[in-house]
Amino acid sequence: MAEAKETWEYKVCCIGAGYVGGPTMAIMAKYCPSVKIIVVDISQRQIDAWNSNKLPVYEPGLDEVIAEVRDRNLFFSTDVDSAIQECDMIFVSVNTPTKHQGVGAGRAANLKNWESAARRIAKVATKPKIVVEKSTLPVRTAAAMQQVMQANQHGVSFEILSNPEFLAEGTAINDLTKPDRVLIGGAQTKSGKEAVAKLAWLYAHWIPQERIVTTNLWSSELSKLVANAFLAQRISSINSISALCEVTGADVQEVARAVGMDRRIGPYFLNASVGFGGSCFQKDILNLAYLCETFGLKEVADYWNHVVRMNDWQKQRFATKMVSAMFGNITGKRIAMFGFAFKKDTGDTRETPALSVAKHLLQERAFLALYDPKVEEEQMRNDFAENNVLPEGCRFDDLAVVTSDPYEAARGAHAIAVITEWNMFATLDYQKIYDNMEKPAYIFDGRNILDHKSLIKIGFRVYAIGKPYGVGTKMDEAYHVPPEFLE
Ligand code: NAD
Ligand code: UGA
Repeated sequence: MAEAKETWEYKVCCIGAGYVGGPTMAIMAKYCPSVKIIVVDISQRQIDAWNSNKLPVYEPGLDEVIAEVRDRNLFFSTDVDSAIQECDMIFVSVNTPTKHQGVGAGRAANLKNWESAARRIAKVATKPKIVVEKSTLPVRTAAAMQQVMQANQHGVSFEILSNPEFLAEGTAINDLTKPDRVLIGGAQTKSGKEAVAKLAWLYAHWIPQERIVTTNLWSSELSKLVANAFLAQRISSINSISALCEVTGADVQEVARAVGMDRRIGPYFLNASVGFGGSCFQKDILNLAYLCETFGLKEVADYWNHVVRMNDWQKQRFATKMVSAMFGNITGKRIAMFGFAFKKDTGDTRETPALSVAKHLLQERAFLALYDPKVEEEQMRNDFAENNVLPEGCRFDDLAVVTSDPYEAARGAHAIAVITEWNMFATLDYQKIYDNMEKPAYIFDGRNILDHKSLIKIGFRVYAIGKPYGVGTKMDEAYHVPPEFLE
């Protein structure tokens, strides 16, 4: 590991070199050039990628930051033990997915990775450490970890802080550079307050003091879950209204605008969609609801569980609408899926609505032509396999093909389904696409990013989320376009 200098003002390490650990530490390294930062991971593949020209995560602006700081004061390594021993502060940014088995399966957070990192720290540390929870964790995890670490330490003291991450994928560099707030939770003891001050000092290199918020440990841990729950709740709320718009003739974008202009409500996160995806919203709400149940708060758990249920319904509703609009029969019909990532500007496919929609369409034995500018074929194939997307006994190549551009995907297709809101989909030559499709040619815009009026003029049958056209979803109802669209 090449070192730019021998003396550092402070040394920080981060366990977990994923979507959060890599970008977060890269920005810290950029603004704290006198601090040495080592990002470690048990995955050799992941670390090799961080040390290569093809980073393991796609994030606009990340390549430039990495080029500036890598091997200057940011280092990537698999030598977890040496990094723990060398550094004073240790961020833990390992994945905390939903548990798949045992108590709380399907709801509780799996803390296996967190606990194994904590045990490792306790085992190899030879001097006092500040351990920072960067991962999203259930409330009171810090107390459990303190016990695990104390029981395994060799005369070394640990101070645990909570410092949840609020970045969103696709905008991570901006979110990390100019966050709305940085949240630090710590014990209300002398050593706890000193540790909080040390972490706040790091952030103060680039973040205004008034945006660095300090709380007790439990408030910080809980705030992260609540922030995600509130954000997801807004999407489920507007998605629920999108269904009502479709049957009443209201337009969900007009409703969202009108409602969002009330400053008490605000305009953000009101884009109706095929449904939210991503590795965190669903897992964090399920985790929050599970916690509530654990503490006997069933009504609170029910309330939050409905946000996830509404999202599941929206994804299913989108696919069902596609089938019924195409005369209840999509068997053997080629359907172009525009986008596979869970949102634009990322290659991340975790919990992407693409998988739910694909599964539903494949149950009807459609043929899917997949295209995404940042998701590779191998990833799509793995996702299909891991999420049981293919009907029993069917092979990927029998029911799907991965294409290299959207025109190829749509050639000979009966329908296009816009799943991800990539900007490029709004500027394609839709006349050319229409000319090469089967007729009637359908577009199901799951993101409301296309110019529906022009598409209708070209001849497409357009179905969008929460729009007053294309409402004829029952087989005996005609496809409906309001007269003003034909003027
Ligand atoms: P990720 O899966 O991309 O990365 C986690 C990394 O941790 C992996 O590379 C894995 O190999 C490594 N790891 C697991 N156990 C380890 C161990 N014991 N020692 C060393 N390395 C280990 O996950 P992520 O998306 O970066 O999320 C990390 C945490 O941050 C999660 O709790 C998540 O909820 C939270 N979070 C994620 C986002 C996001 O946008 N992805 C945003 C905010 C918070
Ligand atoms: C989200 C939060 O925004 C972050 O603050 C948080 O740190 C992160 O989860 C996390 O804990 O992992 P992320 O999932 O990366 O970030 O992306 P979002 O922009 O929140 O989008 C999530 C999903 O909601 C995407 O599928 C997106 O397309 C969808 N969405 C978003 C909508 O359908 N409508 C909207 O108005 C906004």
